[in-house]
Amino acid sequence: MARILITSALPYINGIKHLGNLAGSMLPADVWARFKRAQGHEVLYICATDEHGTPAELAAAAAGQDVRTYCDEQHLIQKQAGEAFGLSYDWFGRSSNPQNHRLTQHFAEALENNGLIEERVDRMIYSIDDARFLPDRYVEGTCPHCAYPKARGDQCDNCGRLLDPTDLIDPYSAVSGSKNLEVRDTRHLYLLQTKIEPEIRAWVDGKTGWQQLAKSIAYKHLDEGLIDRGITRDLAWGVPVTKDGFPRPGMEDKVFYVWFDAPIEYIAATEEWAEATGRTWRDWWRLDEGAEDVRYVQFMGKDNVAFHTVSFPATIIGSGEPWKTVDQLKAFNWLNWYGSKFSTSQKRGVFMDQALELLPADYWRWRLTAYGPEHADSAFTWEDFQASTNKDLADVLGNFVNRIVKFAESKFDGVVPEGGEPGPVEAKLEADLRAAVAEATEQFEAMEFRKAAQAVRAAWVLGNEYLQEAAPWTALKTDRDRAAVGVRTGLNLVALFARLAAPILPFTAPRIAASVGSTDLSWPGAAEDLLNTLPVGGVVQAQGVLFAKIEDAQVAEWSNRFGGAEG
Ligand code: 2FM
Ligand code: ZN
Repeated sequence: MARILITSALPYINGIKHLGNLAGSMLPADVWARFKRAQGHEVLYICATDEHGTPAELAAAAAGQDVRTYCDEQHLIQKQAGEAFGLSYDWFGRSSNPQNHRLTQHFAEALENNGLIEERVDRMIYSIDDARFLPDRYVEGTCPHCAYPKARGDQCDNCGRLLDPTDLIDPYSAVSGSKNLEVRDTRHLYLLQTKIEPEIRAWVDGKTGWQQLAKSIAYKHLDEGLIDRGITRDLAWGVPVTKDGFPRPGMEDKVFYVWFDAPIEYIAATEEWAEATGRTWRDWWRLDEGAEDVRYVQFMGKDNVAFHTVSFPATIIGSGEPWKTVDQLKAFNWLNWYGSKFSTSQKRGVFMDQALELLPADYWRWRLTAYGPEHADSAFTWEDFQASTNKDLADVLGNFVNRIVKFAESKFDGVVPEGGEPGPVEAKLEADLRAAVAEATEQFEAMEFRKAAQAVRAAWVLGNEYLQEAAPWTALKTDRDRAAVGVRTGLNLVALFARLAAPILPFTAPRIAASVGSTDLSWPGAAEDLLNTLPVGGVVQAQGVLFAKIEDAQVAEWSNRFGGAEG
């Protein structure tokens, strides 16, 4: 049994997340956590809301609330939405909690003691009308790289390049829209990444488990040459820079940059979890205190990769302390809404709460896992969603389960029947299934979610083909034993399909298992007897419709409500 630490990128607090956010980090992390737990491993899946920085302040201002109240409310909303989607976090923390404040200040202190922090005078954009500095997203303007007119001060959403607010062409205040801006001097702390660049590169070189996308983004940044990074901001909300006059006096009205404290929350949230549950956290994170044998896996969208492969490592490596760092990093591309992007600010697309008003979580989980934006951007459309739901879930899986269970109810007294001996058809089925299970296992191990889902689906298809061939309804007319073998095998297939479905379909899998009297949702091992797990005589009972088909009228209604092809 291995100890596996999983984190998914921390969602910003600024409102409920859309399906693109879900598909690109939290959902695959959950599917993988469930897969690993089902194999019997000890899994700790940690996430949290990312509550500092300009996204939080701007959203609170837009909502007319003070930041603390806004964050309290939104944290709860996101936590509940996660639960409703079956996201099996062991802990869903908050980066504004005291644990993160303490730990962030601890890292700053360690970096200061190692000579890696320097105070510099910055020229920052100041808004005369707003009477304040405009860090990061407080300023918007035209991207100097791609000319996108609504680039934000920290990053361009169109080309993905990281920006400095002063890079923007024709800047304006995101608070008031004012263009009455000037550049003023202000003192900030810099993390001297240039000093530890060789260590960071050597650390990246040593990471053999990262996906290609992650490696190439890390090397791109290293090859372009790291720059020293400003890690403080002129904001009121965040982790205060100065604690008892350390590391610098005169910085009482400044806080750490959100991207400095957010990844530290992965660790601090584990501390929150430990305090809340009476467990220990240092053995998950400190190599000198038991974390040597932990396997740490991170999930995130591609725009987050540079922060996780270069910036956060600079904090960790620069501290000189033996912290656990990421072993495997799985990055995702964008899920698009038809031809364009999902957008929180423009409310384009479907958001997690709205999705569940339309259909249960498993319908979405299947679509976003089996056809997610894994190796390329992929589009969400109502038409594709309808097709995959109706075919994969309703026809291939749902109908199979209902058909065989109902047949057992009506013709075999609602029990797993005895009699007959499996023959060559069952032997071939078992061999084919073994191959499909092996393929699903291998693809899940490799975090190839689309391929894993297709292998799971292939197993369901084998079941349908078997029933077609064994046709117990026909056999029953002439040979009850032969029919019994078909039904018994079919019911065992149901039990197996529930286990294979469980990581992706956690709400439906227990119902499928229950229909054949089983509660076993463990992942099948390579040597297991796949078709002989249910006790003969065990009670079976259909559980009602597992997946309803999506009707054309629903597609029309949803396209109308949310926008579709033309939206
Ligand atoms: O891009 C985002 O949505 C960030 N809130 C991700 C933070 S991940 C981690 F480092 F905290
Ligand atoms: Zn751009």
